Amino acid sequence: MKLSKLKLTDFRNFKNKLINFGDKITIVIGDNAKGKTNILEAINLLATGKSFHARVEEEMIRYSKEIARVKGRVFEGEERTDLEVTLTRGEITVGENPKKTEKVAKKKLKVNGAGKRLVDFSGILKTVLFGPWHLDLVTESPSLRRDFLDDVLSQVDREYKRASLSYSKGLRRRNKILYFIREEEASRSQLAFWDKLLIKNGDYISSKRAEFIDYVNATPDFNGQDFSLEYDKSAISEARLEQYKEEEVAAATTLVGPHRDDLIFMLKKGKSKARLPAGRDLSRYGSRGEQRMGVLWLKLAELEFIKQRTEQNPVLLLDDIFSELDHEHRDIVMDVVKNQQTIITTADPHFVKNLKSIEIVKL
Ligand SMILES: Nc1ncnc2c1ncn2[C@@H]1O[C@H](COP(=O)(O)OP(=O)(O)O)[C@@H](O)[C@H]1O
Ligand SMILES: [Mg+2]
Repeated sequence: MKLSKLKLTDFRNFKNKLINFGDKITIVIGDNAKGKTNILEAINLLATGKSFHARVEEEMIRYSKEIARVKGRVFEGEERTDLEVTLTRGEITVGENPKKTEKVAKKKLKVNGAGKRLVDFSGILKTVLFGPWHLDLVTESPSLRRDFLDDVLSQVDREYKRASLSYSKGLRRRNKILYFIREEEASRSQLAFWDKLLIKNGDYISSKRAEFIDYVNATPDFNGQDFSLEYDKSAISEARLEQYKEEEVAAATTLVGPHRDDLIFMLKKGKSKARLPAGRDLSRYGSRGEQRMGVLWLKLAELEFIKQRTEQNPVLLLDDIFSELDHEHRDIVMDVVKNQQTIITTADPHFVKNLKSIEIVKL
């Protein structure tokens, strides 16, 4: 899979920008705040239909502009697909009078010129993104690890995407009903439909998460098996919902299910060379270097997983990670970049001087 070009119009700090990417490795070089991360955000927007760091999507529209547009051309073999995302603030002015506005959609997604829903748009372009913020995945909050699982699995499995959308909607409805039960404005019988919906989708989500975790655990890491992942699963079933029913009403929130899952990194061996048969929690016992190594292992397994499941090579996006990694980690990453189209951003060309057949984009 290849991204051949990207066109940005009033996206973040770019007024108008066209970038052509190399078939193999493209290095995007620019000083701080030149827009390196913004470019990868735009590419990822084409892949997922969402931003990986904007709190509100409007943030991506260039200051004081009304419309931002990102276009990309993707090749899978000979097959060409044009992707387009248009963002607005919800209204645009018509004609000369700035007070005369018209309501419009905040986001429009198009494939080859035809409008699409998010589920049909996302996943055509496949990417694996690795930025400095991932390096804290081991120690960050569980919700980030769940988001990570969702991002990976949504790329390889439409049914997962559908199940998780349906699950989150169902969860919001069910929590509302719990609230109304507490206020004595609804009865328990109103939960039945949502219980079923959550159990059905929740089961699917956790079985797919378990499959991915098994895959990662079967992926060798760098020094013999240093790490493993444990699935801290919050199972959802009729019995579990029955068990927590009083607490759920009291809290007006659903207490079991995949929205409470976590992923625990375990350290089995580590630099100390002392074998730890049962493993130790990497977030508490690992050094910072070991924690980062654990994340690198996970990200590389993610790349392999997507390749294997989709039989396509995702585009690897590396955002300024070399300055964050030590020598050993850098070498591991350098080894992987030539196996698929890779787009690397960096402020310091020194890190990439050994790479061959590269395209350079200067910002
Ligand atoms: N909506 C926006 N409109 C204009 N500029 C923006 C917008 N959002 C972010 N920026 C600018 O983009 C720059 C940061 O870009 P970024 O991609 O993070 O840089 P880099 O990764 O190269 O350090 C900042 O100067 C910021 O002010
Ligand atoms: Mg950046």
